[in-house]
Amino acid sequence: MGYAATAISLLLCLKKEYTKGMAEVPSGVLAERDGQGQEIYVQSMEKSVEAKAKEIFPWVKPGVIVDAGAGAGPLTDLLSKSFPGSTIVALDMSSDMIDRLNRRFEGRKNVEVVHGDIDSFRYREPVSTFINVSVFHEDFSFNGYSHEKIIKTLIRQKQALEKGGVDIIRDGVQPEQEVLYLRPLTEFACDRFIKFVKGFKQVRDVNYMIGNFHSDVFVQNGRRNFVDADVGKSFIEISSQNASEMFSKYFYAEKNLPVELSEQFGIWTLREYKKILTDLGFTVKHAETFLLDYLLKEHYSKDFEVFHLKNGVLSNAPYPPSTMLLVGEKQ
Ligand SMILES: C[S@@+](CC[C@H](N)C(=O)[O-])C[C@H]1O[C@@H](n2cnc3c(N)ncnc32)[C@H](O)[C@@H]1O
Repeated sequence: MGYAATAISLLLCLKKEYTKGMAEVPSGVLAERDGQGQEIYVQSMEKSVEAKAKEIFPWVKPGVIVDAGAGAGPLTDLLSKSFPGSTIVALDMSSDMIDRLNRRFEGRKNVEVVHGDIDSFRYREPVSTFINVSVFHEDFSFNGYSHEKIIKTLIRQKQALEKGGVDIIRDGVQPEQEVLYLRPLTEFACDRFIKFVKGFKQVRDVNYMIGNFHSDVFVQNGRRNFVDADVGKSFIEISSQNASEMFSKYFYAEKNLPVELSEQFGIWTLREYKKILTDLGFTVKHAETFLLDYLLKEHYSKDFEVFHLKNGVLSNAPYPPSTMLLVGEKQ
């Protein structure tokens, strides 16, 4: 083949690739779950998809919608049905998820599956909506607990968006810093609290103290394991940010606990997230934190009570929020 023909075929090849939507060959790191653990992980996302769609879909701008970190595609599926005139791009870095996505959406006209890292994704047309559900905290946790990759992704997404396009983030969130006092109500709560402290060490050391209150004064008696007499009686003094991380994962299936304990779910507070988006030139259209109802009913209220000292007086405190929803619009 002559030089011209080689160049043309190379160009055609590149064009073919580029018309599909691209991201660099994944370079980041992902969690490793074994077969059964991966099924539990995938099923948990299928179960929560209706609730996520209800919160997110009112903010979606139809056109090209990128489901970034799509997993096995529960949200992609609903997006493709709810926005039939849009193209839904399901982007994920995991080969296993890409196999699942390819099988699930074979023959589905308005879904494109792209294998790659969220921080290098680009597309042939301007994007109308990026949806980042529970992907930033994974990207952060499996790449050295660094915010830089997340900021790089947000910059890249802003560049790829059309004017008036939206960036939606739904993920864990850090509470504002305060001291909390947790009262474990079950043996399970005590056991999982200690497992959290040991396992979360790979993220950071968790400072805590067990003790009791006498006239609204915390009387500590050590950083120790629990005994039966502690259940329903003793308190754990801990920062709200560590308490929040503990709440986000203590109830996970034993099989997936080690991986979940290597992840930090809340990478910024809502205030910090808003500031980042604003500084990057987005207009924040919506920002809220909330606690998922099933977590409160099925887990937290059964296992822990939460208190804080307000003006020196011990009183009930709200559980830390589990989730935040943030919507930025490109001007
Ligand atoms: C917790 S799952 C969320 C899946 C889906 N968004 C949902 O809510 O049902 C996170 C997904 O993000 C993917 N992921 C993590 N880091 C990524 C990255 N840097 N680029 C692309 N995908 C990533 C993982 O492979 C996983 O499938």
